[in-house]
Amino acid sequence: MARVAVVTGGTRGIGRAICEALKAQGLTVAANYAGNEDKANAFARETGIAAYKWDVGDHEATVAGCARVAEELGPIDVLVNNAGITRDGTLLKMSFDDWDAVMRVNLGGCFNMAKACFPGMRERGWGRIINIGSINGQAGQYGQVNYAAAKSGIHGFTKALAQEGARFGVTVNAIAPGYIDTDMVAAVPENVLEKIVARIPVGRLGRAQEIARGVAFLASEDAGFVTGSTLSINGGQHMY
Ligand code: CAA
Repeated sequence: MARVAVVTGGTRGIGRAICEALKAQGLTVAANYAGNEDKANAFARETGIAAYKWDVGDHEATVAGCARVAEELGPIDVLVNNAGITRDGTLLKMSFDDWDAVMRVNLGGCFNMAKACFPGMRERGWGRIINIGSINGQAGQYGQVNYAAAKSGIHGFTKALAQEGARFGVTVNAIAPGYIDTDMVAAVPENVLEKIVARIPVGRLGRAQEIARGVAFLASEDAGFVTGSTLSINGGQHMY
């Protein structure tokens, strides 16, 4: 039977490309989403991948959502923690709500999803957890103390959980994307983005599919000896 993967924030941007890559690799995929119903419906129609709505920042909703996926598709073997939001602003202007929202979804979401999925993977002796971090969690970014802290937290979370999963066949890795051509990056003011792209040695934004290929590798049988690692896919912008 095909393995089952859940991709959070899976109906748009990088998440959508990950869902499509995992499906192409023969997995049964569930895409989680939180808000945009129209885009999620269009995604399900166009890809044939089931979309499930819940807020990964809400622990109880996450447990219930994962239970529904497991009931309808089978036990979850592959978890991709991709859901993320930005609330950019300099520290002086950043509100407590902006801080809380980003920590709750970007970092709290990883914890909630792992709490729901890791025990079953451990019991069955096989699992893959892939967390989407960020270049901005590695290098920092002006105007992103919340996002950089949450993404940096994801990199620490990955290395800690990797140690807990290793004996049980559960690998835990991170990918640190650079600036990828998605709605999130399109929201960066044009003059700021131009300066960022000028600092990318490859000379362009990344493509969502370029992140998805990395995820597909880490989710595969072939990656069984890779754990606790971070794969940077950033066009050379930050060599870490
Ligand atoms: N380093 C040093 N100084 C900087 C700077 C930088 N990188 N960027 C801006 N400044 C300076 C400006 O020159 C300006 O100085 P002066 O007032 O002396 O001219 C001052 O800081 C204020 O800058 P802004 O006018 O830009 O301030 P703002 O409050 O209007 O906007 C901001 C601040 C919202 C952070 C805006 O600069 C911004 O959106 N920056 C982009 C942040 C970013 O890269 N977000 C990534 C989103 S995508 C993502 O996160 C995905 C991923 O994982 C990669």
